[in-house]
Amino acid sequence: MAVDSRSRTSRRTIVQMVVVGTLASIIGVLWGLYIDWFPVQGSTQARKIDDLWDLMIAFAVPVFVLVVTVVLFAVKEFRMRPGEENLDGPNIHGSTKLEIVWTTIPAVIIFILIGYAATILSDIEAAPANAAQELKVDVYGQQFAWTFKYTGADGKPINTTRLYLPEGQSVKFNVHSKDVIHDFWIPAMRMKIDAVPGVTTSYRITPIRVGSYPVVCAELCGLGHAVMRQTAYVMPPAKFNAWLASKSASAAAPAAGGGGSAAAAPAAIDAKAIFTKGNGESVACGSCHQLAAAGTPAGGIGPDLDKVLAGKDAAFIKTSIVDPQAEIAKGYPPNVMPPNFGQTLKPAEIDALVQYLVKSTRK
Ligand code: CUA
Repeated sequence: MAVDSRSRTSRRTIVQMVVVGTLASIIGVLWGLYIDWFPVQGSTQARKIDDLWDLMIAFAVPVFVLVVTVVLFAVKEFRMRPGEENLDGPNIHGSTKLEIVWTTIPAVIIFILIGYAATILSDIEAAPANAAQELKVDVYGQQFAWTFKYTGADGKPINTTRLYLPEGQSVKFNVHSKDVIHDFWIPAMRMKIDAVPGVTTSYRITPIRVGSYPVVCAELCGLGHAVMRQTAYVMPPAKFNAWLASKSASAAAPAAGGGGSAAAAPAAIDAKAIFTKGNGESVACGSCHQLAAAGTPAGGIGPDLDKVLAGKDAAFIKTSIVDPQAEIAKGYPPNVMPPNFGQTLKPAEIDALVQYLVKSTRK
């Protein structure tokens, strides 16, 4: 009689488990698919990777629910009741049938996921049908900035700190490092790879959406790792080609740009905004440096400018911005400040920033 009531309980329990587990799985999968896990899909690769993620959710949630449901019901069903303190549990022998089932089902799931993941991997790494049309960009990681090298129409290299990409065209990045290991990542494009000294790594993307997207370093590479951020600009192919052509032209006639602009009215430039927010391309000074006039906080990575720049002249401040290694403030390690402010800031912006710092730190 005791055995009879036990087996009735356990049959009812199994029905309960199936109902609870099924409901929890459905809710969990729907919830997992509904959540916006990632940034916008900026490339064809992003779509495929997100599809793989969705498939993983559809399999992983039910497996998780199954394990948790069985554990919770087992705790409730087989808990020790008063009077059972000294009893051993029933003696259980193996169940071949059960073992076959719980080996086969996970194996099938794993093979489905491996098969699908392998297909996605070969898709996202595939070279375009017309390899000649693919844009090649060399990416250089350096503490703590990225530099991008294109080949101009005239075959000459074009170096820039802004990453420009044509919409709808396959781009192959060849990634290099000049010092330590970095990791080149554009989250909206989903792809990322380490930049390893002495090795060239690569991946390709096809941008599908005009806009600007953060470029970040995803490998802890030193004190300035957090500020190793730049921007990728995806533009219509015609506009991209015009930019590339203009760069080739200006490389041929360097006197046309830069030099004269220092004289252009610096009054129009909001130096405080550049200090606190950057100019859209440069890192904000205020994210590492304290400056009372700008209201940026103490305790940053870099020295307190109210102290280290007090009484310094414009020439010293300018050098500190464009060539930060020239003189390192006492107690601070070298090679932390990005070395690319001379490229990310326009000459007029640097001059405005220097004037602003001279004025702000004057005692
Ligand atoms: Cu470069 Cu982190």
